[in-house]
Amino acid sequence: MDVTSLGYRTDLAIRRLSGSEISDRGSHLVIRTPANPYFWWGNFLLIREQVRAGEWSGWVAEFAREFPDATHIALGADRPIDSDDWSDLGLDLQVDTVLTTTAPPPATPGTVTAEIRPLRSDQDWRQMADLRLTLPEAPPDPNVAEFTEAKVAECRALTEAGHGVWFGAFVDGRMRAGAGLFACGDGLARYQSVETHPDFRRRGLASSLVAELASWGFRQMNASRLVMVADPDYHAIQMYRRLGFVDAEPQVGLQRPPAM
Ligand SMILES: CC(C)(COP(=O)(O)OP(=O)(O)OC[C@H]1O[C@@H](n2cnc3c(N)ncnc32)[C@H](O)[C@@H]1OP(=O)(O)O)[C@@H](O)C(=O)NCCC(=O)NCCS
Repeated sequence: MDVTSLGYRTDLAIRRLSGSEISDRGSHLVIRTPANPYFWWGNFLLIREQVRAGEWSGWVAEFAREFPDATHIALGADRPIDSDDWSDLGLDLQVDTVLTTTAPPPATPGTVTAEIRPLRSDQDWRQMADLRLTLPEAPPDPNVAEFTEAKVAECRALTEAGHGVWFGAFVDGRMRAGAGLFACGDGLARYQSVETHPDFRRRGLASSLVAELASWGFRQMNASRLVMVADPDYHAIQMYRRLGFVDAEPQVGLQRPPAM
């Protein structure tokens, strides 16, 4: 199951830990997450071969064969894409940047007093789901509530099984920011879902969380390299670079969200 892309390698490591099914079809992998059918990037094809001009419609048909009930389409590419006929199929190209660091960032105190700690109680995990549902950046998906509940349950199960940790930044007892870090083997640990409540942004909460998680990763998880995936056109990437993360490679995928 050789996968070149560091982004997808760490995605698949977390999928395996979460109990997703990964089937090797030679030219591609089929990743299936029955516990969360609304998770686009938990139910996708990862194409390992170079896709040539005129072949994208075949991959869309292959996705439909593998996921006949899916309302989304998600096609990951382990190799760079050099054809653009996907645009005629209503797919969006997503080229994220995979960043890494091998050293803990400097301590980054925020401008608001927050308790930064791992989530541990039913109430903490409830707050994580509530926080996520307040984010205006939630993708357009009629099933976002079901997706979020299943995703939070999965993150909780992963941390309780000892595969990683989810930190919250609590201001006056309310969780206002959160992020996770999971061990992916080979000394790698991968960040997940750095997010801050819209009313608590630009106060350093996310920077503090990323820095605290890095310390945890290097010390408690024995990680040697931390992996973050970010949209190069969104402001979060500047924060990661400021914290010492360095661009490593692109991660390429094509998706079509469900109709609203
Ligand atoms: C990205 C996000 C987590 C940042 O949270 P935050 O708590 O506001 O982050 P911080 O206060 O630690 O900001 C750190 C730096 O990031 C950059 N930054 C954060 N928000 C920014 C914005 N709206 N515009 C420009 N730069 C911004 C700035 O460099 C900022 O430092 P500064 O305030 O000293 O200028 C938040 O905007 C968010 O939840 N976005 C939606 C979820 C998401 O897409 N997360 C990214 C996943 S990769």
